[in-house]
Amino acid sequence: MLKTAPIVAATLLTFVSSVAFSADIAHTRSLAASCANCHGTNGQAKEGMEPLAGGAKDEMLKKLMDFKTGKKPATIMHQLSKGYTDEELKSIVDYYATLKK
Ligand code: HEC
Repeated sequence: MLKTAPIVAATLLTFVSSVAFSADIAHTRSLAASCANCHGTNGQAKEGMEPLAGGAKDEMLKKLMDFKTGKKPATIMHQLSKGYTDEELKSIVDYYATLKK
């Protein structure tokens, strides 16, 4: 019993952290879904719109931060970017950067 306790504990920990991880992904995906209306499903933009899929992480995050602070003029993104925390924007950008163009 005592010998298996660490194994049981380790197994439980792995389980708990993997659940937390997939909940994170699901949350990020639902945040990212609200960008799809304009930037295309899964970030695959139609002509005339900026695609997000496969974009450079740092570049996208910098643009979003600049929209948020008002440094970069925008018609709409300055409003939208204010609706997310910095962490949320970072995870959305991380997510889009992993998608194929
Ligand atoms: C209502 C339409 C709309 C939605 C929703 C939207 N965007 Fe945008 N996005 C735009 C427009 C329009 C621009 C061009 C800048 C401007 O005029 O606001 C833009 C520009 C950008 C840019 C800069 C692209 C570049 O290379 O210059 C990024 C990055 C971006 N959006 C990310 C996002 C993310 C992430 C979301 C979801 C949280 C999102 N957008 C949701 C309309 C939208």
